[in-house]
Amino acid sequence: MRRPLVAANWKMNLLQAEAAVWCRSLRRDLAGGSGAARVVVFPSFPLLPVVSRELAGSHPGDIAVGGQDLHPNDKGAHTGDVSAAQLADAGCTWALCGHSERRRDHGESDELVEKKVEAALRHGLTPMICIGETRDERHAGRTFEVLERQLRAALASRPSAFALAYEPVWAIGTGETATPETAQEAHAFLRRLLGDLGQTAEEISILYGGSVTPDNAAGLIAQPDIDGFLVGGASLDPRNFLTIIRVSG
Ligand code: PGA
Repeated sequence: MRRPLVAANWKMNLLQAEAAVWCRSLRRDLAGGSGAARVVVFPSFPLLPVVSRELAGSHPGDIAVGGQDLHPNDKGAHTGDVSAAQLADAGCTWALCGHSERRRDHGESDELVEKKVEAALRHGLTPMICIGETRDERHAGRTFEVLERQLRAALASRPSAFALAYEPVWAIGTGETATPETAQEAHAFLRRLLGDLGQTAEEISILYGGSVTPDNAAGLIAQPDIDGFLVGGASLDPRNFLTIIRVSG
């Protein structure tokens, strides 16, 4: 039985004081526990200390913290980058790998994403691997081909533990969510592919991301292969994020 997993991707938003208020609010509202759901928060790097501090001791294991990116190398001359060891040292237990905004803004290749997955695992972080097709790829009928290429590459080293986030690029930040049926079709495809790649497919959490809101989360989570959410815009308001957690658990 897969436990629901709900993650907040703050992207490049919030300042320290706002992050602290957010954490206190969520912590207070989850004081009775997060239900069945596991929760992860992905703040930008300068916010990691304040978020780790504010969430410390909050139902251990219930609200985890992760980095939005990491460099594949353990240390060295990489100005502006952050290592897996630094994320772990800042209280992270998760790392996003291959978010489409990294692929788009920083030209991250499938091969680089795979190296990031390996780096995360070397330092005890669980990678959350993001994959998804663009609008043009979907319209060209290439969705499954793109997902297969991205997933095969990301799992080339046969990682021991990870979560997958299916995030159709056309749905991210656009308000145009995939319908539950469209998302389920992709998730079912990915679960079959995970099995073909020798993974214990039934145990791996496959999250949906792309314009998830308190209003559309229930329809999506009702699908058999949707195990939770990676939430961007709607996660910035802790009450909306809480509603999505409650719906998922
Ligand atoms: P969104 O972002 O919820 O704002 O669409 C999701 C994501 O990029 O992880």
